[in-house]
Amino acid sequence: MPSKPLNRSLHDARATKQDEFYTQLSDIEKELRHYTAHFNGKTVLCNCDDPKVSNFFHYFAYNFQKLKLKKLITTCYKNRDPELFSKHKSKLGVYLVYEGERTAGGRVPTADRIGVYTLDGDGDFRSGECTALLKQADIVVTNPPFSLFREYVEQLMKYKSRFRVLCG
Ligand SMILES: C[S@@+](CC[C@H](N)C(=O)[O-])C[C@H]1O[C@@H](n2cnc3c(N)ncnc32)[C@H](O)[C@@H]1O
Repeated sequence: MPSKPLNRSLHDARATKQDEFYTQLSDIEKELRHYTAHFNGKTVLCNCDDPKVSNFFHYFAYNFQKLKLKKLITTCYKNRDPELFSKHKSKLGVYLVYEGERTAGGRVPTADRIGVYTLDGDGDFRSGECTALLKQADIVVTNPPFSLFREYVEQLMKYKSRFRVLCG
């Protein structure tokens, strides 16, 4: 079988690398401070986010009370193990639902203590179960995979009438 041309392989490698680029907490804070008033009473979905490593999860969990959120849902694609730069070795994705509970000491619990559960499928944002969560959400905030950006926006256009996408 002929191998891919070199420039194609490099393009694929770059896209894959950008797909695994993780957003810095400082960038999330800088951008989202303009929208704090919009989160009151809302369900937020981060649908490309491993709760064990995502700074979007961190931002919304730690600012849950301040933003007066109703619910925070995160879903993660093909990665049951907490690791940066997922190689997508797992066939299944995971999800977490946080409703603002605190530990006895008044802290935000870790993702594990909140509960990270396995999805039936791989956690692809286009899958039936992730789309069902998207329909539940008032606001979707994430940095999606670069290589699927067009499909990501098309899905938002289909299910959400008003949206804003932030990309790294
Ligand atoms: C650019 S990274 C950003 C990760 C995280 N949202 C952040 O901002 O730190 C995109 C993420 O989307 C995940 N991903 C790739 N394909 C996906 C898919 N089909 N559905 C959902 N997530 C996907 C990747 O594993 C990666 O973690």
